[in-house]
Amino acid sequence: MRKKVVAGNWKMNTTPVEGVELAKAVVAGKGSVCSCVNFIVCPPFTHLSEVMKVTRGTGIAVGAQNCAAEAKGAYTGEVSAAMIASLGVEYVILGHSERRQYYGETSATLNKKMEQAFANNLAPIYCVGENLAEREAGKHFEVVKAQIEEVVFNLTAAQFEKLIIAYEPVWAIGTGKTATAEQAQEIHAYIREVLRSKFGAKADDTVILYGGSAKPSNAPELFSKPDVDGGLIGGAALVADDFLAIGKSFSK
Ligand code: 13P
Repeated sequence: MRKKVVAGNWKMNTTPVEGVELAKAVVAGKGSVCSCVNFIVCPPFTHLSEVMKVTRGTGIAVGAQNCAAEAKGAYTGEVSAAMIASLGVEYVILGHSERRQYYGETSATLNKKMEQAFANNLAPIYCVGENLAEREAGKHFEVVKAQIEEVVFNLTAAQFEKLIIAYEPVWAIGTGKTATAEQAQEIHAYIREVLRSKFGAKADDTVILYGGSAKPSNAPELFSKPDVDGGLIGGAALVADDFLAIGKSFSK
């Protein structure tokens, strides 16, 4: 049985005070959700320390949204994986489409970030996904395959075991348009097949999350699919009740 994961990517939203309130509300409501669901919250860097104080010992894990490609030194404005990990943070989102699109992150950058994450015991949540033109041209399979081959295939088997993958079609992010459950299942199964070609049966244990306008109303159908192991939630993660309701969506 694979783990069920519901992760919240807060993106560049909330002040630290608001973020602590949101984390407290998630902690307070967690008891109403099956203990089989693993929640992760990913606030901005400035909130990590305070959010950790709220979540420590509650079973809710914390992730960062990014980390530097270098270990330390003269890289003004960057935040290292070591700094993040020192707070007790367990996860880091890498390769989000917004980072690829607006900050020019390439597979070369992401390989370095992966290395930093693993060197500091952070488990990456590695995002893949095609844009609308690629989907319309029927290229979504080859796009996600390349994103996986160029980065994930460089991992050792031990590193791969800690990796979470998030499939996030760019056309569904923040647009209100969701992939259908069938579209999600089709590509999640394909991603697992690509992973299996390199890592064998270990790929059967890889958590593959869906992201892109996931919300309480569509999560039950998405999560009912065999290869959809949970969600990476943007907008709906900013409302504690919605985030928790998404956690209640698992029927399997
Ligand atoms: P939305 O849920 O707001 O579409 O964002 C999805 C996402 O990008 C999560 O990383």
